[in-house]
Amino acid sequence: MATLNIVTADTGDPVLRTRAAPVRKLTGELRRLLDAMVATMREAPGVGLAAPQVGISMRLIVVETPVDPEEPGGDTRLHKLANPEIVWRADEVAEDQEACLSIPGLYGDVPRHTAVQVEAMDVSGRPVSLALDGFEARVFQHEIDHLDGVLFPDRVTGIGKLYHLEQEDDGELRRVPYRGPRVSARA
Ligand code: NI
Repeated sequence: MATLNIVTADTGDPVLRTRAAPVRKLTGELRRLLDAMVATMREAPGVGLAAPQVGISMRLIVVETPVDPEEPGGDTRLHKLANPEIVWRADEVAEDQEACLSIPGLYGDVPRHTAVQVEAMDVSGRPVSLALDGFEARVFQHEIDHLDGVLFPDRVTGIGKLYHLEQEDDGELRRVPYRGPRVSARA
């Protein structure tokens, strides 16, 4: 499967900052797009990808996370969805590390709801309702943000929560504070 070019924030392409359009009908063409997004996500590699990240302003996401977060190389759960919407959020919020294929090299400790309920349309056009928690809930919140033009640096509580990772001689990863301007100021 051919992969797609990933739009990065440094290009200034407005597609990453645009609210994406809802999908009215999941055509064969859009199903092929979802498959190409899966191939692109796996090659990157990443755990999620939203259509605006491949230059298409439509409400489509793919997410693939480990069934057991303690076993990263094990079985995965793959979602290919249109019009995903968060219909419930847990009150509890937790911070954890995120990165984004559209912002290579930047990391952030991002607060996210620890559980969410997502309603969407699957590839057969049927409505689905997903009860998600932990890492999977985090990835869905990140990808659904992309559909509204929101990037993870918008969600951190301060610039001190953004950093790069550098590998030291002993192989350990060291956090290097992010010093540049925010990708884009947006509430
Ligand atoms: Ni992203």
